[in-house]
Amino acid sequence: MCGIVGYFGNKNAVPLLLNGLKRLEYRGYDSAGIAIMHEDSFALTKTAGKVKSLESLLKTAPMQGNIGIGHTRWATHGEPSDLNAHPHTDQTGKFVLIHNGIIENYAVLKEWLAQKGVTFQSDTDTEVLVQLISMIYHEEKISFENAVNLALKQVVGTYGILVMCSDEPNQLIAARLGSPLVLGVGEGEYFLASDASPIVEHTRNVIYLEEGECLIIGDDGYEIKHVDHGEKIEKEISRIDFSIEEIEKGNFPHYMLKEIYEQEKTIVDTMRGRLLLDEGSVHLGGIQDYLLRIERARHFYITACGTSWHAGLIGKYILEEFAGIPVHVEYASEFRYRNPVIDSQSVVIAISQSGETADTLAAITKAKEEGALTLGICNVVGSSISRETDCGIYTHAGPEIGVASTKAFTAQVSVLYMLALYLGRKNGYSKADGVKLAHALHDLGGRVKEILNITDEIRKIAEEMVDVENCLYLGRGTNFPVALEGALKLKEISYIHAEGYPAAEMKHGPIALIDEKMPVIFLAPHDKTYEKVLSNIQEVKARKGKIITVTDKNTPELQALSDHVIEISVSHPRTFPILATIPLQLLAYHLAVLRGCDVDMPRNLAKSVTVE
Ligand code: G6P
Repeated sequence: MCGIVGYFGNKNAVPLLLNGLKRLEYRGYDSAGIAIMHEDSFALTKTAGKVKSLESLLKTAPMQGNIGIGHTRWATHGEPSDLNAHPHTDQTGKFVLIHNGIIENYAVLKEWLAQKGVTFQSDTDTEVLVQLISMIYHEEKISFENAVNLALKQVVGTYGILVMCSDEPNQLIAARLGSPLVLGVGEGEYFLASDASPIVEHTRNVIYLEEGECLIIGDDGYEIKHVDHGEKIEKEISRIDFSIEEIEKGNFPHYMLKEIYEQEKTIVDTMRGRLLLDEGSVHLGGIQDYLLRIERARHFYITACGTSWHAGLIGKYILEEFAGIPVHVEYASEFRYRNPVIDSQSVVIAISQSGETADTLAAITKAKEEGALTLGICNVVGSSISRETDCGIYTHAGPEIGVASTKAFTAQVSVLYMLALYLGRKNGYSKADGVKLAHALHDLGGRVKEILNITDEIRKIAEEMVDVENCLYLGRGTNFPVALEGALKLKEISYIHAEGYPAAEMKHGPIALIDEKMPVIFLAPHDKTYEKVLSNIQEVKARKGKIITVTDKNTPELQALSDHVIEISVSHPRTFPILATIPLQLLAYHLAVLRGCDVDMPRNLAKSVTVE
C-alpha cells in the first residue's frame, strides 16, 4: 500500500526512481511524484494518476540530481489529486518527505501546528509529519536527524518514510514502523524501496529495516539507529532470493496471466523437497522444532485477509478432517479486535502472500500476547509476518505482482494440504492413502498444464458473458471457498458483481436473483455431494439461469443441464479444489480483458494492504 523508493549515489536519480516506481506500482497507483536534491535545493514533480503520467510530466520538465525520493500512492487521507500526491513539503520549503502508512494522531498534531501558524496545502496525514519535523527543527535549532527523531517519537500510527532537507543536501533519512523498507547496498550507491523488487536489478545485497529503526545515509556511508533510544544497530546484509526475470512480464500481456501460467511450476516448487512420496507423508523444515506443540494443539485459528483468507477456509475443511483438531478461520481485521479464546495450547496460523498485511500482523501480535504458537504461511521471504511468527512454511511461488492473487493462492492451499497430510498421518490416515495423496500432489504440475491448454475454450465462455452485471459461484465442502475465490477474482478485476455461496445455501436468498441474465458457475466434482449439487443445478435451470459447470467428469446429465461444461482432469479427488481454481482465474482474466479493464492495476485496489 503506497510504494516508496529512494536513491543516493552518483547517477542521475530520476530514471532510477521512475523505474523503481513502476516496479512498485502494484502497491498503489492513484498518484505519483518524485523529489530530487540538486546542489542545496530540491525540485519536485507530482501528479494524480499513474506513474506514466508522472513520466510524461518529467519529459516536458526534466529534473536531474544524484539523490532523490519517489512515491506511488494509494489514498488513505485525502482524495487522489495533484496536491495530495507525495512528496510533501513543509511551509519553509526546506523539507520534503514521502510516507507509507497512517499517522493516527494527525488531527491533534495538525491542530497544534495550525495554532503555531502553519498553513497546510493538502488533506494528508503525511503533510502533518513533514510540517512537524520542520517545526521541531526550527524551534529547537537541532540537526535534521534529531528533528526527524523527535518528530517520530510524537507520532502514533505506522510509517515507512524517506525524508530530505535542503540544509543537509547530502543526507537521506529513512525510518520504519509498521510499513516495510529495504535498503539496497551497491558500490558507492544506495537504493531504498518498500520491497526488494526495484532493487534487484541494481544489487542483490539488502538490509531489511526492522520496526523502530532509522537509517541515515550520507557521504560517509550509512548508519542505522533505533528511534526510541538512538543506539546504533549493526545489521547483516542479506541476499535477494529472486531474479529480475521473475518480476518481468516476459511475453505475457499481463502479470496476472503470467502468474496464472506459472502455477504449473509454482505449485511444484512449493512442494519440492517436502513430499515424502514413499512414506505418504511430508517434511516441513520450518516447523520441525514445533511439531509436538502443533500435533498436541487444542485448536487452530487461521487468520488472513482477502484471497489468503479463502485459502484458510479450505485449510479448515482439510485440517479438521485430517488432523481431527478444530479449526477456526477468521478475518485478521476481526480477530485483532475480538477476544478469541486462545492460550498456549492454541496454534494461530497466519496466511499472507506479502507477509506485510497490517491486520494479519496485528493478529499475530495478539496471538503471541495470549501465549499461542504462531505459524506463518508467507510467500515473501524475510517479510514482517515471516519474521514475527514463531515458525513457518514458505510458499515458494516467487514474486507475485498482479494485484489479483493467483499463484500465491494455489501455493497457500498446497501448503495447507501438506500440513493436513502430515497431521493426518499422525492421526490415523493410513500410509496407503498418504502415498496416494502425496503422489497426486506431486503430479499437480502436469494437471495444471492440461487446464492451461483450455484457455481458448474459457475465453469463448467469457465472450458470451461480457455484458453480465452479476454472477453467482456455488460449491460445497472444500469447493465452497473455491467459489468465494472465483467470485472475488471476477469482481476485483472485471468489476462484475459476483458472490460465492455454499451451493445449498442458494435457496436461502440468492435464488431470488436468478433469471435468464444470471450466470451461475457450479463446482461439481463427483464426490459425496455431487447429487446434491446436481439438484442445485436443476433448480437454477428451472429458473432459466445460465449454467457453467466445472467438473472432474463430464456426464450426460451435466451436459444436458449446463450451457458450458469445463472438464478438468484430476488424479485424486482431494486435489479438485486446487485445480478447479485455475479455470475460474482464467474466466475472470478473459472477462476483464474483454471488458477493457486494467487487469494488473484494478481500480481502488492495492496488492499489499499495509494500513488497517
Ligand atoms: C489485498 C490483495 C489481495 C490479498 C489480500 C491479502 O487485498 O489485493 O490479493 O489476498 O490483500 O494480502 P496478503 O499479502 O496478506 O495475502
